[in-house]
Amino acid sequence: MINDNDNGITNKSKNRPFEDILKARISRRNLLASSMMLSAAGFVTAVAGNRVQQAVAGTGYGRKMWSSRRRHPWRGGELLRFEPVKVADGNGPVPVISSDYEYQVLIPWGTPIQPRGPEYDGDPNTRPTADEQAQQIGIGHDGMHFFPIRRKNNHGMLAINHEFGNNSHVLGKDDPENLEDVRLSQHAHGVSVVEIKRRFNGRWRVVGSNKARRIHVNTPVTFSGPAADHSLLQTSAGNAPLGTVNNCSNGYTPWGTYLTCEENFNGYFGATGEWTPTEAQERYGFSEGGFGYGWEKFDPRFDLSKAEYKNEENRFGWVVEIDPMDAYQIPVKRTALGRFKHEGVGLVVGRGGRAVCYMGDDQRFDYIYKFVSAENWRQMRSQGRSPLDEGKLYVAKFNDDGSGDWLELTIDNPLLAAKFKDQGEVLTYARLAADELGATPMDRPEWTTIAPDEYVYCSLTNNSRREQADKANPLAPNPDGHIIRWRDTNRHVGTSFTWDIFVIAEDTHGTEESFSDPDGLWADPEGRLFIQTDGGQKDGLNNQMLVANTKTGEIRRLFTGVTDDEITGVAVTPNQRTMFINSQHPGNGDPTLTNFPAPQGSGKIPRDCTFVIVRKNGGIVGS
Ligand code: FEO
Ligand code: CA
Ligand code: CA
Ligand code: CA
Repeated sequence: MINDNDNGITNKSKNRPFEDILKARISRRNLLASSMMLSAAGFVTAVAGNRVQQAVAGTGYGRKMWSSRRRHPWRGGELLRFEPVKVADGNGPVPVISSDYEYQVLIPWGTPIQPRGPEYDGDPNTRPTADEQAQQIGIGHDGMHFFPIRRKNNHGMLAINHEFGNNSHVLGKDDPENLEDVRLSQHAHGVSVVEIKRRFNGRWRVVGSNKARRIHVNTPVTFSGPAADHSLLQTSAGNAPLGTVNNCSNGYTPWGTYLTCEENFNGYFGATGEWTPTEAQERYGFSEGGFGYGWEKFDPRFDLSKAEYKNEENRFGWVVEIDPMDAYQIPVKRTALGRFKHEGVGLVVGRGGRAVCYMGDDQRFDYIYKFVSAENWRQMRSQGRSPLDEGKLYVAKFNDDGSGDWLELTIDNPLLAAKFKDQGEVLTYARLAADELGATPMDRPEWTTIAPDEYVYCSLTNNSRREQADKANPLAPNPDGHIIRWRDTNRHVGTSFTWDIFVIAEDTHGTEESFSDPDGLWADPEGRLFIQTDGGQKDGLNNQMLVANTKTGEIRRLFTGVTDDEITGVAVTPNQRTMFINSQHPGNGDPTLTNFPAPQGSGKIPRDCTFVIVRKNGGIVGS
């Protein structure tokens, strides 16, 4: 989300860095030289181990895609062979793609999720009704995943997040005037699951489906894990739990489910009457006016001053598990993964078959977390237990010597037992617990992804308010961000790691590799790192998707978006020959800046949409 809404700082803990390493500007060349030594060492270990089963969706192609036998991560310059989009070409009201590639627009906001459903085409003089919107693709396209049907490369379920849509974009006015307006806004948020298929002419389209569904702010949901029945998740109104909101990035499990992550949920709450924030409400950034959605005016569930709805706010800020193949499954909020502003989940299968989730909390000076399931995920599932319900949650501490520690958030730690009553409270107030343990405040952790050499990459999008640098966040201020990476000591289940910085965005400015504000990340099985951006780019560029060679550090630009959009979300078919990415908030909803995806000059409101990307020669996307 790019706007000022996520720019607040709620971390008032003493964990704010005071190391005396001001403006420690490490040169990019030195960084990469040391990284390459580390990764060379890491690769040898990975090959020697040769047992790592990294996991992608368990719908059949995970093993093939991640098998270490098939892994040839370091083919040097051969990894990137496409003609990059030049800096000088990467701007304007329509997208630009590498001359070796082509794209198709799919499922813009308002597309019916069933072919004969109601459609909205961006006409500024009409809007969908709330009921129509609940049958259509929402707005704010973000994280997504492709779940193939019968392992096919031309047919599957696409699960996609709808992070946010400002009232001016969705309603055509700043403030809702009635409950119908609020419901329209609520139905534009959440998740869509649609069935898509490629035709013989190569074009993808939405097809009729008994699996397709919309999940939004009023969809029934349930809780599981240690905090599921906690009093902090009950209201005195006794209302059943409903909905998911501000669904930012995502994850996917080896057992074939989709994980959607609730990020800036605080912004949808407000107060119509007298309200004094608690310590926890302050730490999570709740305020009287929220982000200006005005839901609290017509829907008391979002009114912080209504005593009977106290704790409703604790029902948001979780990772939610969705079965993309079963429209009747009730989405499950997995409390063992903690409550914070979840950007996304990078899930990998670590030592002993444990499911390991790396997660960023996207706010200035907030933290990076890791969850490790209690046991082998297959065993747990065969016993009817969820690997995401039992396990340990850790928060990261980055030491200046290049080492790091995972600090467990457990009520068994006396430091936490002194402040919290039980594990449910620790998880519900994970940020406050992490403050107590001395976690390292980061420059807005966004996506995490696991490369074939077991390095975990994490984008730190920016932090213009940083005053003291440390080695892991070496720029003060850091307006353009960087990408950090680490490697756990025990195949993802240990409590320590080593880390280094992959790239500092500022060091690319003025070159053909120019980018700022890294956000979406995906490491493919060959060692390419897809980097998507969300923020003011330098050198005149629109937001973009680039591909990096993780061995050499080379970066090439594959795609640039349209005026004032953000490029986010990345999914591929099993054979990696088709990729899906998103344009979020094109033109910030302003038709005078762009009408995309409608033709320029049509007067239509720009609409968030998905791009289907293929290489013209049919090759792997990114090559
Ligand atoms: Fe939803 Fe952190 O971007
Ligand atoms: Ca975003
Ligand atoms: Ca962002
Ligand atoms: Ca993001």
